[in-house]
Amino acid sequence: MKSEHPKPVLLADYRAPEYLIDTVNLDIALDPTKTRVVSKLSIRRNPQSKSTAKAPLRLDGELLHLESISLNGKKLRRPAYAIDDTGLTIASPPKEPFTLEVTTVVNPEKNTALQGIYLSRGVYCSQCEAQGFRRITYFLDRPDVLARYTVRLEADVATAPVLLANGNPVARATLPGRKRHYAVWHDPHPKPSYLFAIVGGDLALLDSTFTTKSGRKVDLGIYVEHGKEARAHWAMDSLKRSMRWDETRFGREYDLDVFNIVAVSDFNMGAMENKGLNIFNDRLILASAETATDTTYESIESVVAHEYFHNWTGNRITCRDWFQLCLKEGLTVYRDQEFSAESRSRTVQRITDVRQLRALQFPEDQGPLSHPVRPDTYIEINNFYTATVYEKGAEVVRMIETILGREKFRAGMDLYFERHDGQAVTIEDFVACFADVSDLDFSQFMRWYTQSGTPELVCDLTFDRRKKAAELTVHQTLKPSHGKAKKQPQFVPLAIALLGENGNEMDFTVEEGKEIRPGVLAITDRTTKFRFGNVTSRPVPSLLRNFSAPVNVTIALSDDDLAFTMHHDSDLFNRWQASNKYAARSILTLLDAKRPKPLVASKAAKFAAALEHALRNPDLDDAYKAELLKLPSVADVSREKSVRVDHAAIFEAHRAFSGAVAEKLADTLDDVYARTSNGRKFSPDAKSAGRRALRNAALSLMTMRGMDEDYTRLETHYRKSSNMTDAAHALVLIAGVDAPARESVIQHFFERWKDDHLVIDTWFSAQAQSPRAETLDDVKALCTHPLFKITTPNKVRALIGAFAMGNPLQFNRADGAGYDFLAEKVLAIDALNPQVASRMLGAFRSYRSLEPKRKNRAKAALKRVADATHLSRDCREIVSRMLE
Ligand code: ARG
Ligand code: ZN
Repeated sequence: MKSEHPKPVLLADYRAPEYLIDTVNLDIALDPTKTRVVSKLSIRRNPQSKSTAKAPLRLDGELLHLESISLNGKKLRRPAYAIDDTGLTIASPPKEPFTLEVTTVVNPEKNTALQGIYLSRGVYCSQCEAQGFRRITYFLDRPDVLARYTVRLEADVATAPVLLANGNPVARATLPGRKRHYAVWHDPHPKPSYLFAIVGGDLALLDSTFTTKSGRKVDLGIYVEHGKEARAHWAMDSLKRSMRWDETRFGREYDLDVFNIVAVSDFNMGAMENKGLNIFNDRLILASAETATDTTYESIESVVAHEYFHNWTGNRITCRDWFQLCLKEGLTVYRDQEFSAESRSRTVQRITDVRQLRALQFPEDQGPLSHPVRPDTYIEINNFYTATVYEKGAEVVRMIETILGREKFRAGMDLYFERHDGQAVTIEDFVACFADVSDLDFSQFMRWYTQSGTPELVCDLTFDRRKKAAELTVHQTLKPSHGKAKKQPQFVPLAIALLGENGNEMDFTVEEGKEIRPGVLAITDRTTKFRFGNVTSRPVPSLLRNFSAPVNVTIALSDDDLAFTMHHDSDLFNRWQASNKYAARSILTLLDAKRPKPLVASKAAKFAAALEHALRNPDLDDAYKAELLKLPSVADVSREKSVRVDHAAIFEAHRAFSGAVAEKLADTLDDVYARTSNGRKFSPDAKSAGRRALRNAALSLMTMRGMDEDYTRLETHYRKSSNMTDAAHALVLIAGVDAPARESVIQHFFERWKDDHLVIDTWFSAQAQSPRAETLDDVKALCTHPLFKITTPNKVRALIGAFAMGNPLQFNRADGAGYDFLAEKVLAIDALNPQVASRMLGAFRSYRSLEPKRKNRAKAALKRVADATHLSRDCREIVSRMLE
């Protein structure tokens, strides 16, 4: 491998490019092993660059075979140019604008890293973000170089009848001999190289049209494997709704004659927003009642929207450099979350998003991989497509909306689109738009982008009955992290209500402390104090309503206060929050209990009573009730513990508590299960999905009792299922218990779905996530299964990823065998696909909070990875941050 200790890239070192590229003409002749790329670039000095007159031209390039190079039509010979492992240098290019023509050859078949041009089940496709274009041709492969692209693609008619690239189609024809053909595409919008894409293959098309609000007719195409066209309708429907939504909510219209999506089976991430040609992991396009769960339908809807929304937030306005990644990702996640909230239930969407943030981003921010939403240093940028940049980045945008209110926020967005269209900009440019429309000072707010870590708000509320007044004190702390010992207090919008005796919100006045808007307090200092008047009885505080900021709040509340909040809070998010907290806290108290049995019974009885009240409430919808019924997971409870975590002990306490709650709620759960019974025709709409979610949540909880009748019900649920939501839910549950039907159900599912490469991933995952002691052995055996392929990221994620990230009990086996297994697999994968390997290493991110024995075993496994002689830059960076 190349350099073992590469130098970090620093935000502080950013310089404008010395050269610009205005137009790019590419001629790409696709071939499985020898794809030839002829690139014609018109290049000129950047008038903005501060560099001296004699600037060599340095182009990025990796794993390219250079065939020829000429400048202004004259062949260049060494030493006029030089090449090395990472690029090409022309020592003294002309001062005047010039044309550079370069011919390179790449090998798609051997491309297991899946960056640049590669083959996925016989389909040529490309992935350029972040720095994959340099694996196609030599280029200024950085986001602040915007060029207009024309692409001619040539391929065999037989294997690649479909030829696609960015922009609009210009021409296509068959070549003499009729074996080869070509297509020409032109993209009128200047774009950075990371948005470049091509596809060539034998694919089926689902097409449709969309007319934009100003009357532009757009041809929409979704390309999928032959025979799968019917499974693309949901994605098409989602696309059209996204296009309309961006017009109404943000005034953004589409800007090309065509919009194409291609689904491929081998893909490192979820999807990619290449201009006019989104490329998707097929898992996020294909759906039918028989093959996709409701969760998959939801993911498809939100990712199709996400990639489409990038057309404005990412493509029309892009990032100046990769440190600004959250400029497009955080903002676009915020936008797709809003879209989903308006397409479904806003509260349930909020719960789902916060669950996700806490499960993925909080641990990242509390461990060795912690980094600011806008990092200021990286070694491998692909390691920064993180929950912090994406999900916390979205929360930061949402806080701006909370601070400004809907209308002002929209005005700020309008200004952003107007001011920066066609530019590559920074977070400062983005935030300045909101400062400009509001006259507010956002300088303290900027710390959300520059400081890492989850702020802790320790709150205390006192009540003075005589004065009818209450005082709230908020202490803010932000733990030091590597390289940043001292952190400054952040600006936190804290949404709050005080609930009175009858459960209604009190109409209090704020007499001391700053209110940003009614009900939203400004937390600005290490200690911020508030005084409220007109508080007529002892208030129960409802803090951080709707999760108004990505922080942790602690305040002393009794179990009765939590139950009271579960019944009365007008903020439904906080009702769920109270329920979740109540359950997690109950489980944690069992851990140190001297006499656990009676304690389980009493804790469970109290919690079950509160839950039952909510389940019987006719005003709450099924999807919301399902969220209440999903008790916090073992991983959720482990996070609450945060030090000396022993997953086996937590698992036991969790099981005891859940089983006891199920016992207490037996009749209610039976009712819920019966009332939501199936038999209706499948529809993916939110209401039907909510009903299924509630039924399956009830089934899960009932199964926790572990009685014969529960296992019988579970098997029947599987056998009678008429859609994948129910079938997959039952499969996962049954794979996790020693039910008599376990083996036969697993076998049945396999036989039914072995020919479907997407559905079979559920079969791998279900077994990998089982808490049974045999799981690691099963996973090892499945690694040699004929349908498992270590070069296919979806397979790696379904089996190894599901085990390492979705099975806290067995991954964290006391003997360390889970860690050893992962270390070994990471090394094997790293040799093929560094991006996927480095993601898998992320499973170790919280190892420091484990109890000492497990912690040492995890550390030893990490050390073995670190000691490997050939390690990618991706894994090297992650493993050294973990061990430092
Ligand atoms: N921009 C893509 C998105 O929509 C993600 C691409 C990530 N690719 C990568 N190689 N890290 O979120
Ligand atoms: Zn994105």
